[in-house]
Amino acid sequence: MSTLSDKDGDFAANGVKYGMSWQSSDHSPNAESKLIRRDPALHVSLGAVYLSPAHGFNELAPTYDQRLAGNPLFGVESTATLAFFPMLEGKSVADVGCGTGRLSLQIARMGAGAVIGVDLSEEMLAVAVRKTVRAGDLAEVVTWRRGDLLERLPFPDCSVDVAVCALTLSFLPDVGGAFRELSRIISPGGSLVVSDYHPHGLVQARADATALNGNKDKAPYLRFTSAGGDDCRITQYVHTISDLFRAGQDAGLTLRQISEPVADSHLANTYAAHRERSGAPLAVIARFDK
Ligand SMILES: C[S@@+](CC[C@H](N)C(=O)[O-])C[C@H]1O[C@@H](n2cnc3c(N)ncnc32)[C@H](O)[C@@H]1O
Repeated sequence: MSTLSDKDGDFAANGVKYGMSWQSSDHSPNAESKLIRRDPALHVSLGAVYLSPAHGFNELAPTYDQRLAGNPLFGVESTATLAFFPMLEGKSVADVGCGTGRLSLQIARMGAGAVIGVDLSEEMLAVAVRKTVRAGDLAEVVTWRRGDLLERLPFPDCSVDVAVCALTLSFLPDVGGAFRELSRIISPGGSLVVSDYHPHGLVQARADATALNGNKDKAPYLRFTSAGGDDCRITQYVHTISDLFRAGQDAGLTLRQISEPVADSHLANTYAAHRERSGAPLAVIARFDK
């Protein structure tokens, strides 16, 4: 197992140690939403509130896990993603864009020696910390750090056996730098598993939004209502399958497996939105080896 020496940014599982400072001006709680909170009239006139990923996921964090439970994407995606992992027994695994630890905790239960969840959003990490405390026995294995995949991840070069990046790439305007950074932290012989919203679904969502809102919403987005009642959106970006392939190749990785799971007939019958798109892939999952 590779060693992990950079512990400065750990979110301790006891929930009290937030070691890393939150100084990135791009991602700190920003003026945009402070303004909206202070001036409801402005919010109404704007209609939707577009939030940066850091701020948006901070807002979404308290209800993220409830949303998971009702969303067919996550069941389809996690089955396919977990099936792509190499043997994890004793391995070190970085879960980048870990959110509230949906996959990190499952990976720990699959026998990984060390799991380090990294995310941009301190509120998503705070939920992950609380879940780890409740899980009890996993606290020895799982740690949490704040980090930005668009900058430098808090890991030395070649320091983990496996990296996973689940349902996060579509929130990044460009995947090239993200793949380079993920590849940097993986040891030679290690693997990267990525999953994302399928570009077909994102294009469809963009078309729906354009039809509904005229020219206002050119990009797809993740939409939610905040605790304060704001109609919030986090912009997403469409990356094609060949974008992912090329980004992996340019980062020195070899594509080993790829899958595009579809909504099955049960989901198609249960969820109105997916009934219309029955047969369309919901997610893309790929494994690259270094
Ligand atoms: C849809 S959630 C997915 C969370 C988790 N991987 C899962 O599958 O449940 C996307 C996550 O990506 C994180 N994220 C977005 N941009 C990021 C970046 N540049 N660096 C690190 N994390 C990022 C968000 O904070 C959020 O927690």
